Amino acid sequence: MKTIIEPFKIKSIEPIKFTTEHQRESILHKAYYNPFLIPAEDVLIDLLTDSGTSAMSAKQWSGMMDGDESYAGSKSFFRFEKTVRKLTGFKYIIPTHQGRAAEKILFTIVGGKGKWIPNNTHFDTTRANVEYSGAEAVDILNETGKHPNLVADFKGNMDIAALKNLIEEKGAENIPLCMMTVTNNSGGGQPVSMENIRQTKKVLQKYGIPLFIDACRFAENAYFIKLREKGYSKKSVREIAREMFSYADGCTMSAKKDALANIGGFLAMNDNDLAAKSRNLLIVTEGFPTYGGLAGRDLEAIAQGLDEILDEDYLRYRIRSVEYLGDKFTAIGIPIVQPPGGHAIYIDAKGLLPHIPTHEYPGQAVVSEFFRVGGIRSVEIGSVMFGKYDSNTGAFISPPMELVRLAIPRRVYTQSHMDYVVEVAEEVFKNRKNLKGFKIIEEAPTLRHFTAKFKRLT
Ligand SMILES: Cc1ncc(COP(=O)(O)O)c(C=O)c1O
Repeated sequence: MKTIIEPFKIKSIEPIKFTTEHQRESILHKAYYNPFLIPAEDVLIDLLTDSGTSAMSAKQWSGMMDGDESYAGSKSFFRFEKTVRKLTGFKYIIPTHQGRAAEKILFTIVGGKGKWIPNNTHFDTTRANVEYSGAEAVDILNETGKHPNLVADFKGNMDIAALKNLIEEKGAENIPLCMMTVTNNSGGGQPVSMENIRQTKKVLQKYGIPLFIDACRFAENAYFIKLREKGYSKKSVREIAREMFSYADGCTMSAKKDALANIGGFLAMNDNDLAAKSRNLLIVTEGFPTYGGLAGRDLEAIAQGLDEILDEDYLRYRIRSVEYLGDKFTAIGIPIVQPPGGHAIYIDAKGLLPHIPTHEYPGQAVVSEFFRVGGIRSVEIGSVMFGKYDSNTGAFISPPMELVRLAIPRRVYTQSHMDYVVEVAEEVFKNRKNLKGFKIIEEAPTLRHFTAKFKRLT
């Protein structure tokens, strides 16, 4: 059969609220046009993030009832540890309350002034944690990843030559580790090839620099490798994932993505000394090493989710449903990052609204219009998130791309929800020439996109 259906039945439902265009105008106004400030109840289709928004399975819910809430030595921890170890092969598994807590622990230990952390592209929390430690976060994405319209199989790949140059220039002793984000969230949810992971490892090994994988979407990345990379079509996604991890010395993970859980994360590694330091810090900031900021029931949900995510019927549906939305957007004429990534569609806002300059945030205009027209919540990944003013010249420095992300929660929406999103997108496209830019009227010093207040320009 050609139709790829949702590989599950729906047992429990959550109603969504319909609003009028007039009500949505007022909701937007009250939220200062920041989607993070809109009450979730007022959102019809929530594509703000795929993080922590998955629908859990019956087995995950039953696992939660079985959660062992003992402070020390909980059996849920041992199930979690065994599952993560089987998946990744890493020796030391440290649970954290989410991905950024793993990042915070890691970079508090290895970061600091005078240190450099390369990554294909740092996610915003990763960058923030690197910079908070005093270190510099450097993105070294390969050239194909920088061109939204270019169709290529592995646009998340690291630029290997640039990595070598960075190491030579800064000195291996100043690079405590290199990160590799799979899939590359900020760069469009694009996958990284096995060959690129292997080559990255080869370069790092020469200089004695450890490789850490930001593994949030490891299963989606592994499935892309199965689909697109020579020699992998007959391998199971578990085997592919295991090979990906085999080139790394550790990983950070947000279980809110490819562990199909609503909260959680972990830090894993092979280095005994680093693990001991991490656990000491964990006790101060997260909790005892056998729960690390999570309840026993959360550890159960993560362990079960990490097995379910490797189901290839699920991954086929997952990747195809994102691609379906991307194909429809392309047919309408909306420029998107091509080809569609694993968890989201990224609209090229600069391409869609060329009349709005980057310092007037074209992405924010698209986000606002999707909500106004159809109650769909999305998020800007462009100058709002990463733009800044040069402290010397006052000139606005914008990132290479102005994107709007429509992230698809896992196992939550059906194809008819997606068809509705397409209909709204058609309206947004028709009205694109009338859209206006925005001005920020209030902002926090770091991660400003979460709380910034905007004013629509007239
Ligand atoms: C690539 C990547 N790394 C790290 C994180 C941080 O994870 P968390 O939100 O669980 O702190 C995210 C979250 O969206 C992410 O996408």
